[in-house]
Amino acid sequence: MTSPTTAIRTEALSRSFDGRLALDGLDLEVASGEVLALLGPNGAGKTTTVRLLNGVLRPDRGAATVLGLDSTEDGDEVRRRTGVLTENAGLDDRLTARENLEFAARIRGFGAAEAARRVDDQLERFAMGDQADLPTAGFSTGQRKRLALARALLHDPEILFLDEPTSGLDPTATRDVTNLIGTLARQHGRTVVLATHFLGEAGRIADRMAVLDHGRLRAIGRPDDLAAELWDGIPADIDLGRPATSSVLGLIAAVDGVIHHEVRATGTTINVRDRAAFARVLHTLSTQDVDVFGANLRRASMEDVYFALENSFATEREPAT
Ligand SMILES: Nc1ncnc2c1ncn2[C@@H]1O[C@H](COP(=O)(O)OP(=O)(O)O)[C@@H](O)[C@H]1O
Ligand SMILES: [Mg+2]
Repeated sequence: MTSPTTAIRTEALSRSFDGRLALDGLDLEVASGEVLALLGPNGAGKTTTVRLLNGVLRPDRGAATVLGLDSTEDGDEVRRRTGVLTENAGLDDRLTARENLEFAARIRGFGAAEAARRVDDQLERFAMGDQADLPTAGFSTGQRKRLALARALLHDPEILFLDEPTSGLDPTATRDVTNLIGTLARQHGRTVVLATHFLGEAGRIADRMAVLDHGRLRAIGRPDDLAAELWDGIPADIDLGRPATSSVLGLIAAVDGVIHHEVRATGTTINVRDRAAFARVLHTLSTQDVDVFGANLRRASMEDVYFALENSFATEREPAT
């Protein structure tokens, strides 16, 4: 039984292409209102997962339940209640921005007046008024993504699937699209599955990260929790204005609770067992008259965790030499 707070659940979801497993036994549960970052290198199976969840692709094995509906059996109903931004946006370039949205609204079954109202709302919300009546053929990648996102949201979907929403965008457009997604999730409580290989943006808006590698789910959880499994202690940066000398490093290493320390151009990065150990380090440096210009405990970023996981996969794949 799927509980009402579960938006997505998969069991052993698998799909092959030409005898090769693109997705291999995915077990996943996404809570309603959650933002899940689906991460992994090219070819990991992210797009395949999104397509299976939306019922546009059939699994060879296993099942996916979205909003309590079977993605394969009830695909039409699933797609009525979800919005998808596909990797390549899929606009009709013979049409203007407005016409693209109107066409999508009519396909969704809205009457002419309701369709026009929704299209106007979206054009305004996505600040596309100026481009509304231009053919999309001349649009930049950023404008295309915005329009495709507007289209994916036309019908107020309960779940939003975004496949590489920021690929090909410049930094400003990337930030804008990311902020929009964050707002949708936070203020409107939408469930979002964000498939991407851009870790920085994902890290800003996602609650949990799921890492696929060669079609297999290798890790899932909050970055902090995954970090705690991956390495001992909490990293902290200490700004000394120049690389830490060996005598300073000696002082730090002698403090109870310091697990690890490394020289940096501006000081040192240490790993402490807990916050109290960090405080003892600062106290020691100050009593020894070492100038400290800044010091902060770092929460593990999604990037930190992702790269640590990638390293561990690579190590597992290579036979020990
Ligand atoms: N329609 C398809 N036909 C053949 N192979 C496919 C198809 N879709 C995906 N694949 C293969 O499945 C694997 C996973 O692809 P995909 O899900 O697109 O990965 P990602 O989105 O993580 O980059 C890749 O090896 C890819 O080549
Ligand atoms: Mg993809």
